[in-house]
Amino acid sequence: MKKTFNTSKFYYAFPIFILGYKDEKFSYNITTCSSSFSLGDMVVIGMFKGSNAVKQISKFKEFTINIPTKEQGFLMEKAGFLTKRDKLTLLSVPYELSSVIDAPLLEKCPVSMECRVEQIQEFGEYVNFTARIINRWCDETLLDTKGNFKSNVFSPIEYIGDEKQRIYRYLDDKNSDKLGTFIRSLKYD
Ligand SMILES: Cc1cc2nc3c(=O)[nH]c(=O)nc-3n(C[C@H](O)[C@H](O)[C@H](O)COP(=O)(O)O)c2cc1C
Repeated sequence: MKKTFNTSKFYYAFPIFILGYKDEKFSYNITTCSSSFSLGDMVVIGMFKGSNAVKQISKFKEFTINIPTKEQGFLMEKAGFLTKRDKLTLLSVPYELSSVIDAPLLEKCPVSMECRVEQIQEFGEYVNFTARIINRWCDETLLDTKGNFKSNVFSPIEYIGDEKQRIYRYLDDKNSDKLGTFIRSLKYD
C-alpha cells in the first residue's frame, strides 16, 4: 500500500553535471547542478536564483554541460559547495574553450555539451534556462567504430533523495537493456 510522504523536495534520480560558463569577474567559472531534462536538441536546466551561475548565464546566455563520473567526484562536490569564487583557478581545473560558444569544456569530464540559452523563465526562487544544444563532445572511448555513443559503458552519477537526505547512486556497465526489451520479452512468453 502506498503512503503519502511530506518533503519539501524529492529528486527521483537526476544525473549530476558541472556547468561551465563565462564569468564577468573570473573570466570563466563552474557550478554543479542536477536539475535538467533534454528532448532532442533542447535542454532545460534549473538553478537557484541567488547563485553566481544564474547571474553569469543570464548575462552571457551560453554554458557548457560537463558530465562527471565518480572519478571526478571531488571536483563535482567542490564546484557545488563553493559559491561566487574563482573555482577553475582554486581547484586547478584543466579546460579548453568551446569551439562555437564562449565557455569552458572540462577536460576531465568524459561527456560535454555546448548550449546557447533561448529562453529564461523564473519560478519563485528558481530560474529555468531553456537552451539549444549546439555541439556534443565525448571521450573517444565512448564511441564505437561507427561513431555512435556507447550508452552501456558511460556511468554518470545520479542524485536522489528527499529533504532529509540526498545521496549519489552510480550506474554500471552490468545493468543495461536495449529499448524494446520488455515488449519483446512479452511477445515470446
Ligand atoms: C550534487 C549537487 C547538485 C546540485 N544541484 C543543483 C541544482 O540543480 N540547482 C542549483 O541551483 N544548485 C544545485 N547545487 C548547488 C550549487 O552547486 C551551489 O549552490 C553552488 O555553490 C553555487 O555556486 P555559484 O554561486 O558559484 O554558482 C547542487 C550541488 C550539488 C553538490
